[in-house]
Amino acid sequence: MNYYEKELNIIEKSNRLRNRKLFDNKLIDLASNDYLGLSTKKSLLKKTYKKLKEERYFSPKSSMLVNGYSNIHNKFEKKLCKLNKFEQGIVVGSGFLANIALIESLIRKKDILFIDEEYHASGMLATKLVQGEVVVFKHNDTEDLENKISSLSYTPNRIVIAIEGVYSMGGDIAPKEFNEIASKHNAILIVDEAHSSGVIGKNLLGWFDYYGIEPQSNHIKMGTLGKAYGSYGAYILASHSIISFLENRAKTIIYSTAPSLFDIALAYTNLTYLQKYKKKIKKRIAKNQRIVKKYLNIDAKSLIVPIEIGDNKKVIDMQTELIEKGYLVGAIRQPTVSKAIIRMIIKLDIKEKDLKVVVRYLKN
Ligand SMILES: Cc1ncc(COP(=O)(O)O)c(C=O)c1O
Repeated sequence: MNYYEKELNIIEKSNRLRNRKLFDNKLIDLASNDYLGLSTKKSLLKKTYKKLKEERYFSPKSSMLVNGYSNIHNKFEKKLCKLNKFEQGIVVGSGFLANIALIESLIRKKDILFIDEEYHASGMLATKLVQGEVVVFKHNDTEDLENKISSLSYTPNRIVIAIEGVYSMGGDIAPKEFNEIASKHNAILIVDEAHSSGVIGKNLLGWFDYYGIEPQSNHIKMGTLGKAYGSYGAYILASHSIISFLENRAKTIIYSTAPSLFDIALAYTNLTYLQKYKKKIKKRIAKNQRIVKKYLNIDAKSLIVPIEIGDNKKVIDMQTELIEKGYLVGAIRQPTVSKAIIRMIIKLDIKEKDLKVVVRYLKN
């Protein structure tokens, strides 16, 4: 038995073996991050295809820093900046690449990064690449962060704080006080809005919008396109100088092919749709949250509903039972979470009667 086989055996014995599965497409999907159910809307696909057909090039061809930057990227960046009130934006191949870009390039020698312990794996991986110091603070704990900043024994060049708007496993929202702490300590605040853009806020724009925070020069918003925006890719919004610095220093932006033109064009179409129907979408979000409150007594703040089970085998058994009834939920085990959970996504394309079947099952 070689090393990898031995490791795999250990993983399997603790019921933690992962594998990608071809789930039946007919299952009702309460597992994915397609929050608004845009991934099946053929009209949005058709619109995007028509737009892309008008372009001279339909593949990105090279890095944006060579000649891969297209009109499609530029238009989407401008739309995001206008909506979110940020000075400048840049599209990135994926959220994973965007987090590596931000953390690896912005934290310089004599800087210090404070990062939430539940920050996404891409950000955590990037901390291994930085030249400055990295301090992990307790999840969503503003007091712990404040204590850690106040007890620094030296004055760093820069302080950077990294949080998520909505956390991917818990579905909880980062408190507003993080912004106050960042202002007080003259710190840069990075907000990963993968699960908050399109889901929370007056205009469904995410965390800054939810708290009515006007973007300032110390704010960085990272958003992904593979979730509520129904596509694939990511973007970073910030001040002119930060975006220009990323163009000059972020390796995952400089040395990677520009984001897919189709994906960016699709995200543009979907964002336009989302903004047009935001009132209706917000009502549907509130309705699904009410159903979860009524049956499970959980106050969902986003469209992610975690149900703690604490047993790796049991979550897989529960997932299998629901599959037999025609529904797919996420069975998330360690090490992704500290205790195994059923991760139910109350997507907007789920019919009320179906959502009720699943919540009733989970109640028991
Ligand atoms: C919070 C968060 N940030 C970043 C990412 C990575 O984004 P992407 O899937 O676009 O690489 C994810 C997950 O996919 C995520 O949940």
